[in-house]
Amino acid sequence: MKLHFNAATVAVSLLGLSQAQTPQSRQIAIIGAGPAGASSAYFLQKFAAEAGVNVNITVFEKTDRIGGRTRTINPFEDPAQRVEQGASIFVQANQIMYNAMTEFGLSPRTPDPDADPVMGIWDGDCFVFTIDQSAPTWWNTIKVALKYGLTAPQRAQTLTAATITKFLRIYNAPYFPFQSLTQRAQELDLTSATGVTGEQFLSQNNIGARYAHDLIQASTRVNYASNLANLHGLTTMASLGAQGATAVQGGNWQIFHEMAQRSGATISLNTAVVGIQKTGSQYTIQTTPGSTPGNPTAHPVNFDNVIIANPYQFSGISAGQGVFQGPIEQIAYVQLHVTIFSSPRRLSPGYFDLPNSATAPGTVLTTLAQSDTSTSGVDGVGKAGFFSISIIAKATNPQTQQQEYVYKIFSPQVVTASFLSPISWYKPHVFNSYPKSTPRVTFQDPIVGAGVYYTSGMEAFISTMETSALMGKNVARLIVDNMLGTSSGGPVTP
Ligand SMILES: Cc1cc2nc3c(=O)[nH]c(=O)nc-3n(C[C@H](O)[C@H](O)[C@H](O)COP(=O)(O)OP(=O)(O)OC[C@H]3O[C@@H](n4cnc5c(N)ncnc54)[C@H](O)[C@@H]3O)c2cc1C
Ligand SMILES: *[C@@H]1O[C@H](CO)[C@@H](O)[C@H](O)[C@H]1NC(C)=O
Repeated sequence: MKLHFNAATVAVSLLGLSQAQTPQSRQIAIIGAGPAGASSAYFLQKFAAEAGVNVNITVFEKTDRIGGRTRTINPFEDPAQRVEQGASIFVQANQIMYNAMTEFGLSPRTPDPDADPVMGIWDGDCFVFTIDQSAPTWWNTIKVALKYGLTAPQRAQTLTAATITKFLRIYNAPYFPFQSLTQRAQELDLTSATGVTGEQFLSQNNIGARYAHDLIQASTRVNYASNLANLHGLTTMASLGAQGATAVQGGNWQIFHEMAQRSGATISLNTAVVGIQKTGSQYTIQTTPGSTPGNPTAHPVNFDNVIIANPYQFSGISAGQGVFQGPIEQIAYVQLHVTIFSSPRRLSPGYFDLPNSATAPGTVLTTLAQSDTSTSGVDGVGKAGFFSISIIAKATNPQTQQQEYVYKIFSPQVVTASFLSPISWYKPHVFNSYPKSTPRVTFQDPIVGAGVYYTSGMEAFISTMETSALMGKNVARLIVDNMLGTSSGGPVTP
């Protein structure tokens, strides 16, 4: 028998480390190429390279594209015209998104010069508030103050900033990485926000009820299709933090596409994972062709780690004995219809009981009417009937060569073409968009089995591209630390 060894294996045996920690490649499967999966892949490669260990990453994605709930579409099927039907905005505090955009040479979308500056909040009976964003700030400040007082907007701003500051500590040691989101939420004093409704959280912080009902609720409805009494305080703050938002020129999905490419992973598109089996200390994965389910086939490589990067309840995955150490929590999601359509006409003033001579606002957000009771989900829309409608772009109709308005409407039900008439182009889509975010203080943790990780527990805490990417990064750190034989992400002692 011929003996051959290299310096690394000698060092490893001298240190008494096991074979599993020799520099051979870890086989890692990532299921889902949305923000969480793409970020997991990107940071796994990055952390592994920094640490000098090898990973072989395989990404399985059931659709034909990377991006998950980011979805960029082309009005009139014209590739030069692009709008977001799914996740559309992020902010500078979203450091993973922002840094990736910069690092990948992508540009922030410049504000559309044609964008309509007038925003009205409609309750199904009347406009409770209207603001012209092209007016000077001081004028709008006065307008808000006259109706809602001076303190409510100021306190809301301060509370949002303070909550975001608390949250941002999770990006850095000792709070990053984390094995338990529940534990970090407590340590960062964020359960005080997640444990109560937005309505309670705002009232505890002395923010006037009328301001909350009209302006803040309009914001939670456009961002999370939820009323203030039905979603928790942290999600409420995330909705308010959306001011000053940006997007990637040409589509947000590009960030995740680039992350996946740069990870060096083998990317299997049109491949749905339907089964995970534990075989010894490894996992086998069964897949079917994504859109046309056929007989499952076993992927030829066994995996040391599996990252499930999509809401498990919708994944269609069945897991065998011993894969999970306990059940994965099912979270109630909002089913949201997002319809993008184009019309040469502006919204009808008559629909909103405005005189025919009036111009309807280009953006109509909504809140509950006096007669509405606040419920969650589809019924929660109330008398207004939709969560928001806005002009998001202008596009050229190839048939008429005329510029038309491109609208986006968020609604709990299918929007019929008759409601929208006259329209010249239309693309509906229905999403399991985000959790209903009812108050809670515990969250599905990311470690769900021996070497098996799950990212979507994050969504009940805050559901955004950034937070999913953060959970992907967190799982990547935990895996590479585990490869290095260090246990990271435990409790932080104050
Ligand atoms: C209409 C809408 C508007 C939104 N607006 C914003 C916004 O403005 N800003 C923001 O930050 N966030 C927004 N969000 C939320 C954001 O899109 C999500 O938080 C984020 O996409 C979650 O990322 P994820 O990777 O966890 O899941 P997903 O984006 O859902 O990605 C999961 C991926 O897994 C794939 N998959 C599922 N099952 C399998 C399987 N069995 N095998 C293989 N692949 C599988 C799916 O096809 C998908 O590609 C919005 C969401 C919606 C729907
Ligand atoms: C890496 O993973 C791919 C896809 O799962 C597989 O085809 C390949 O054999 C693996 N490479 C190594 C060196 O294990």
